[in-house]
Amino acid sequence: MIKCIDVEFGSSRYKELLDLRYKILLQPLGLKFLDSYREEEANFLHIGCIDNSTGELIGGLILAPIDDEEIRVMQVAVDVVHQGEGIGKKLIEYAESVAKKIGYSRIVMHAMLSVVGFYEKLGFSQDSDLFEEKGVNFIRMVKEL
Ligand SMILES: CC(C)(COP(=O)(O)OP(=O)(O)OC[C@H]1O[C@@H](n2cnc3c(N)ncnc32)[C@H](O)[C@@H]1OP(=O)(O)O)[C@@H](O)C(=O)NCCC(=O)NCCS
Repeated sequence: MIKCIDVEFGSSRYKELLDLRYKILLQPLGLKFLDSYREEEANFLHIGCIDNSTGELIGGLILAPIDDEEIRVMQVAVDVVHQGEGIGKKLIEYAESVAKKIGYSRIVMHAMLSVVGFYEKLGFSQDSDLFEEKGVNFIRMVKEL
């Protein structure tokens, strides 16, 4: 069984989340965390996915408020050995329920080209042309809650 949980900024689970994000999202691109960016993360919501049988953190994401209506999903990562098991889907659905509960009406995100299909399956629509950030191609995607 797996479950999604809210992760407190600065907690030991948060540190596990940083390690996972580094391994899945940054290391493959040869990137490092920026300290200034991590301070900003105190203002964001952090969500993790736990494997109940081992207690291990196997996925996570960030929700970053943009304005009163819009919240942005960022840094979605699922451990390599658990990709394709429905965990990314569970994480996004959980993030949607959290965002809705606290009053947001729209979720946005910048999806790497390779995962646009994943978000489309979850009801997101493409909302921009292709754009480049740090050498990676993204498309802005949006879903009304
Ligand atoms: C992209 C990612 C978050 C998806 O999570 P996941 O747990 O592997 O995906 P799920 O098993 O929940 O997949 C849900 C559905 O989306 C599909 N899907 C998964 N990845 C996909 C992709 N890259 N493109 C198209 N469809 C995809 C699955 O086949 C599944 O379809 P189904 O419901 O018809 O069976 C995960 O693979 C990951 O962390 N990848 C590396 C990091 C990354 O690219 N993050 C996104 C940054 S924008």
